[in-house]
Amino acid sequence: MNQPRERWSSKTGFILAAAGSAVGLGNIWKFPHMAGQHGGAAFTLVYLVCIVVVGMPILLAEFSMGRSTQRNPVGAFAKLAGNNNWKWVGLLGVASAFVILSFYSVIGGWAIKYSWMALSGQFAANAATPDGPQLAYDAFISKPVEPILWHLAFMGMCVLVIVRGIKSGIEKTSKTLMPVLLVILLILVVRGLTLEGAGEGLRFLFEPKWGDLDVQGVALALGHSFFTISLGMGTMITYGSYLDNKSDLLRAGIWVVVLDTGIALLAGIAIFTAVFALGQDPAGGPGLIFVVLPSLFPLMPGGTFFAFLFFSLLLVAALTSAISILEVVITYFIDEKGWGRVRATYTFGGIIAVVGIFISLSFGNFNIIAPLTDLSFFDFMDGLSSKYMLPVGGLFTALFVLVKWGVPNFIEHMNVGSSGFPVPAKAVMAAFIVSALVVVYIIFESVIDLFG
Ligand code: TRP
Repeated sequence: MNQPRERWSSKTGFILAAAGSAVGLGNIWKFPHMAGQHGGAAFTLVYLVCIVVVGMPILLAEFSMGRSTQRNPVGAFAKLAGNNNWKWVGLLGVASAFVILSFYSVIGGWAIKYSWMALSGQFAANAATPDGPQLAYDAFISKPVEPILWHLAFMGMCVLVIVRGIKSGIEKTSKTLMPVLLVILLILVVRGLTLEGAGEGLRFLFEPKWGDLDVQGVALALGHSFFTISLGMGTMITYGSYLDNKSDLLRAGIWVVVLDTGIALLAGIAIFTAVFALGQDPAGGPGLIFVVLPSLFPLMPGGTFFAFLFFSLLLVAALTSAISILEVVITYFIDEKGWGRVRATYTFGGIIAVVGIFISLSFGNFNIIAPLTDLSFFDFMDGLSSKYMLPVGGLFTALFVLVKWGVPNFIEHMNVGSSGFPVPAKAVMAAFIVSALVVVYIIFESVIDLFG
């Protein structure tokens, strides 16, 4: 227990790891399909405002809490509060990590399967009949065994990264994969932009149609601004806890937000240029990338290659996020319970993998929560985390800074290691208040939604 805490080896390493956490299925899968269904550019604008106003203050709060305490989320709240009342917020975060990773890994497994399908030319075969891609998707996700094997493969990859620790596990993986991700994405953007009729897709993404933005869309955009920068469950507290006092947190925060938003928009460009150029419906919903895209790739020159690139992109993005989710759980057991990293990783990687098996089965004939609700286990876990657990975690993080830690203490700590960006305390306080109010609104919307 008394070994010195591991550290990131460089500032860039930390920024890429944090950006790797932020950039995930949320950017490449969720953002495009939500924008597609809720007004395109109008949705995007609301989302951008939320990231800056709601996301940024909480991101910086999490970084600062982690760095100043050098602890996991539970330990960080307890240490800063000086009592045990606030540690529940940290525990909620650890619980959220369990919930999120169990379904995230199932989708990560799909990304492996789809990369393979792309490479082996199966998209072209499926696209030979009009509803071929849809049938292939439905058939695959509802299979009892195959998707579970891919899910286990994905969890296995996460475990292999996390057992190696911070420097040679998380940091090395993120430093290698994030540049790969950017290169792949840029190739796909160029491919999309050079398709005939691509302009339509750009207009959809960047010209707001306010009429198409409903209240539900606004609430989704708010909630998504949390999910996409990995807030509300202590991921960024955890990553911040491996920093020393030399790095500039504000600068790191800006980098993470810019990379995350930039990559979501680029993914939107790559996808919507193709969707519009090839005459498809942008409001394809969650099946957008697993059904619509596989039907489009065979229609474009070099389709097999680009399809493979796209699903590898998805896999890389999912992996660098999934490891950050697992690390929250592992750091907690290492710091608070005195476990060794290897034991913690295998134990909790294993438990989450088992829950994931039931999530995967819920796409087929076996829904373990059927006696309780008509939601599938997947929808339940997804909704539970992104509509309730993360917003509540984010709300209490903002409240913690406002009423317990104190904005001046937070600013003082945040400025350690920075070149002294002048942040007026009043503005910061206002940002946290707005952030907290917005989150209250998100939770309120979710609850209203729940009761019809
Ligand atoms: N941000 C990731 C995405 O956009 C998902 C993610 C990673 C996450 N860590 C998280 C979401 C922590 C919430 C909390 O896909």
